[in-house]
Amino acid sequence: MASVTVRSSSHDYEVLIGKGLRHHLVEFISSGYTSILVITDSTVKDYYLQDVKESLSEAAPVFTAVVPAGESSKSMVRYEELLDSCVDVKLDRKSLIIALGGGMIGDLAGFVSSTYLRGIDYIQMPTTILAHDSSVGGKVAINHPKGKNLIGSFYHPVKVIYDIETMETLPESEIRSGYGEVIKHAFLSDEDWAHRLLKGKLSELSVNQLESDIMKGIQVKASIVEKDEREAGIRKYLNLGHTLAHAIEAELGYGEITHGEAVAVGLLFMMKLSNELKGAQLPIQAYKEWLDNNNYPVSVLTRIRPDRMLERMRLDKKTLRRKINFVLLHELSDPYVVEIEEAQLLEQMSLLINEVSGE
Ligand SMILES: NC(=O)c1ccc[n+]([C@@H]2O[C@H](COP(=O)([O-])OP(=O)(O)OC[C@H]3O[C@@H](n4cnc5c(N)ncnc54)[C@H](O)[C@@H]3O)[C@@H](O)[C@H]2O)c1
Ligand SMILES: [Zn+2]
Repeated sequence: MASVTVRSSSHDYEVLIGKGLRHHLVEFISSGYTSILVITDSTVKDYYLQDVKESLSEAAPVFTAVVPAGESSKSMVRYEELLDSCVDVKLDRKSLIIALGGGMIGDLAGFVSSTYLRGIDYIQMPTTILAHDSSVGGKVAINHPKGKNLIGSFYHPVKVIYDIETMETLPESEIRSGYGEVIKHAFLSDEDWAHRLLKGKLSELSVNQLESDIMKGIQVKASIVEKDEREAGIRKYLNLGHTLAHAIEAELGYGEITHGEAVAVGLLFMMKLSNELKGAQLPIQAYKEWLDNNNYPVSVLTRIRPDRMLERMRLDKKTLRRKINFVLLHELSDPYVVEIEEAQLLEQMSLLINEVSGE
């Protein structure tokens, strides 16, 4: 088992990562909780809820709440239902919530924890690779019909317990999704790691490799959010690849491709802008091959229109005084934020679309 400590303005917390941790939860949870509510989704429930319940049974009375799997559960309706559950099972200030699932559950259960009784303790138990990103940093939220994550708060867990064995049941598309954010963290921080990832194939990933990549990803995220918890400055770097990714997700409709897959495509555009407009020499060819070899849905680029993407990017949170800002790289591990002219964005997007469609 490995661990990282994350510092936040409210408290420090540990991220534990290892194989089979779900069977030993009592060892990692402070004593003295009056009761525990495990919140999970309908898919994760079938795989892991029983193990988690059994493992917690010595710690305190355990209750469970299950929401349907999928992003649409990050909603006002499910939020309200979960608050009802908290009241029904009489959670008090000394109770604990456990978020057992991917980023959807982490964000939803974290938001419930942050507001019930003005905030009670919660633990993240991530079950997706992508959740290495969402379980650290304290952002919790639900969606509004008009936009993602519009209702939320900053609220850190008391612990993150990452049982790497739970990744074994992930479908391929979720492995790709998780690695979209993993490779983003590598591009932001470590040239050697990035090159190592580019040489590998996700279908041949070993458990040890996965554990190490997740750990490194968490360290990158933690070190950035520790310095800038509320995104006044360098936390923006974590948006690498996301300006186009968010526009693609919104345009295609959420769920058409996964978030991390959209990020992986967004990173390709980031490389193109960095190289073509700013003279960087990022390994775009190697990256394209990696995307191909791992079946990333790069062809979505042929289904989008640059002018519509531009319109959506104007809504990006980094857009200030109507200027579109991008996170780019001078070189691997050297990010910066820069404003890009709309005409240049349109041109580079069209060029990339042509390249991808083989014209
Ligand atoms: N708070 C943050 O900083 C932050 C950062 C990034 C993403 N997010 C949020 O995270 C969410 C996306 O997270 P996600 O990609 O983990 O999605 P998710 O939680 O919806 O999980 C994806 C799918 O995988 C299934 N699943 C989960 N674990 C599984 C397992 N071990 N085996 C088999 N199937 C499993 C789920 O049921 C779901 O169908 C979005 O809502 C996004 O906004 C938050
Ligand atoms: Zn992301």
